[in-house]
Amino acid sequence: MDTFGVAMKIAILGGTGREGAALALRWAASGEDVIIGSRDETRAVAAADDLNRALGKTTIRGASNRQAAEEADVVVLTVPATAHLAILAEVREALQGKLLIDATVSLDPDAPGRLSPPNHRSAIEEAQAFLGPRTNVVAAFQNISHRLLREPNRRIDCDVLVCGDDPQSRQLAMALVEKTGLRALDAGAAHFARTVEALTPLLLELNRRYKAKEAGIRITGLPEKER
Ligand SMILES: NC(=O)c1ccc[n+]([C@@H]2O[C@H](COP(=O)([O-])OP(=O)(O)OC[C@H]3O[C@@H](n4cnc5c(N)ncnc54)[C@H](OP(=O)(O)O)[C@@H]3O)[C@@H](O)[C@H]2O)c1
Repeated sequence: MDTFGVAMKIAILGGTGREGAALALRWAASGEDVIIGSRDETRAVAAADDLNRALGKTTIRGASNRQAAEEADVVVLTVPATAHLAILAEVREALQGKLLIDATVSLDPDAPGRLSPPNHRSAIEEAQAFLGPRTNVVAAFQNISHRLLREPNRRIDCDVLVCGDDPQSRQLAMALVEKTGLRALDAGAAHFARTVEALTPLLLELNRRYKAKEAGIRITGLPEKER
C-alpha cells in the first residue's frame, strides 16, 4: 500500500468476522496489502482464500492475530467488545510504534442494543490507556455496517467519523478510510469516540423500528474542503 508516499501492510485482527472480512475485501479491492488475523491461523488462511476467490486475485493473506500484528505497519481491530482488552494484551508488544484503528463498539453483552457500561470511556480511550503512548489509537468504522462494506463496488452514502488524540494518526487513518471508498471526517480527540460509539445502538434501534438493516449516518453542512 502507498499512503502518504509510504508502502504499508494492513493487518485486521478478527478479520475472519463480519466487519473485518468486509474491510479486508474493500482494501484488497483497492490494491492494498492485507493480512487477516484470527485466534486460529488455519481459520485465517481459509477466510483469506474465500475472500481472494471472491475478489479474483490473491492479495489477502491469513495469519494468527499476533503474527499479523507483528508483520503489519497499521493494525485494525474488529473483534467483539468482550474480547477487546484480551486481544490487545496478546498483541501489545507488536503494536508498539504502530497505528491501531479500532472499530470496537462497547455493546453490552447482557443488554443487546445498549452500550456497556453507561457513561463508559470509549473503546479507544481504554485501548490507548492500556497500550501506552508508543501506540496511537484511532476510532473508525463504528457506524458502518458490514452489510454495506461487503460489496466492494457498492457506493456507500455514509460518513466515517475518525477520532483519536494524535492528529497525524487521524490523518493517516482517514487516508486509509478513503481507500475503502467512504468519506472520512476528522472528528477530533479520543473522547469524541464516546459519542460516535453511542450512535451505533441508535442506528440498530432505527433498523429495528423501520425494519431495515443498513441505517447509517451522513454529516451535512461542512465546507467542501473539510470533506
Ligand atoms: N458487524 C458490523 O456491522 C459492525 C459495524 C461497526 C462496528 N463493528 C464492531 O466491530 C467489531 C467486530 O464486529 P463483528 O460483527 O465483525 O464481530 P464477529 O463477526 O462476531 O467477530 C469478529 C471476529 O472476532 C473474533 N473473536 C470472536 N470472539 C473472540 C474472542 N473471545 N477473543 C478473540 N477474538 C474473538 C473471531 O475471529 P476468530 O474466531 O477467527 O479469532 C471473529 O471472527 C465489534 O467490536 C463491533 O462492535 C461491527
